[in-house]
Amino acid sequence: MLHLLFAVTLLFVETSGLFLTNDRPHHASCKVEWDFGIQCDEVRARLRSQIMQWSTQHSCHDDRCKYELLLEDVDTLRAKHTATSFHYVNDIEFIFINGTNDCKVHGFSRAEDPLAYFDGSTNYCGMHMLITGSSLDKDTGYNEVSSDKICTQYSEATC
Ligand SMILES: *[C@@H]1O[C@H](CO)[C@@H](O)[C@H](O)[C@H]1NC(C)=O
Repeated sequence: MLHLLFAVTLLFVETSGLFLTNDRPHHASCKVEWDFGIQCDEVRARLRSQIMQWSTQHSCHDDRCKYELLLEDVDTLRAKHTATSFHYVNDIEFIFINGTNDCKVHGFSRAEDPLAYFDGSTNYCGMHMLITGSSLDKDTGYNEVSSDKICTQYSEATC
């Protein structure tokens, strides 16, 4: 009887969990699409140098540190970011797609912890801070698209 009760409770929790997650990613993560009015080579170089600049300090108060560059390719940048505020370790990937005079970037960040559901917007901010840190958001043609459906706690973010 207890077993059955436990199973039913579990089923209920699972089902309501699924229902709740329809409006947000099932796992703490964030997808963003950016447009920049400059060539991908420059966008990549600026993101890379921002990652390097923020990879030397071991602590900071605003999460603008503890980045680690993992891979650089013509069309890819991968990095790891440890958010001091929530101790989440997030894996970031930027994919670059050349346009004629512009660059499209697909950003994806996910928490390494398989059980992470909320992330305090750290997946979004971990990417967004690199964009603002390197002033890429000041360029003409800059545009960012995401939503709470594909980016955990996107609208609550104060990076
Ligand atoms: C974009 O074009 C530039 C200039 O032709 C080239 O050097 C670079 O490798 C291209 N990048 C990608 C991501 O295709």
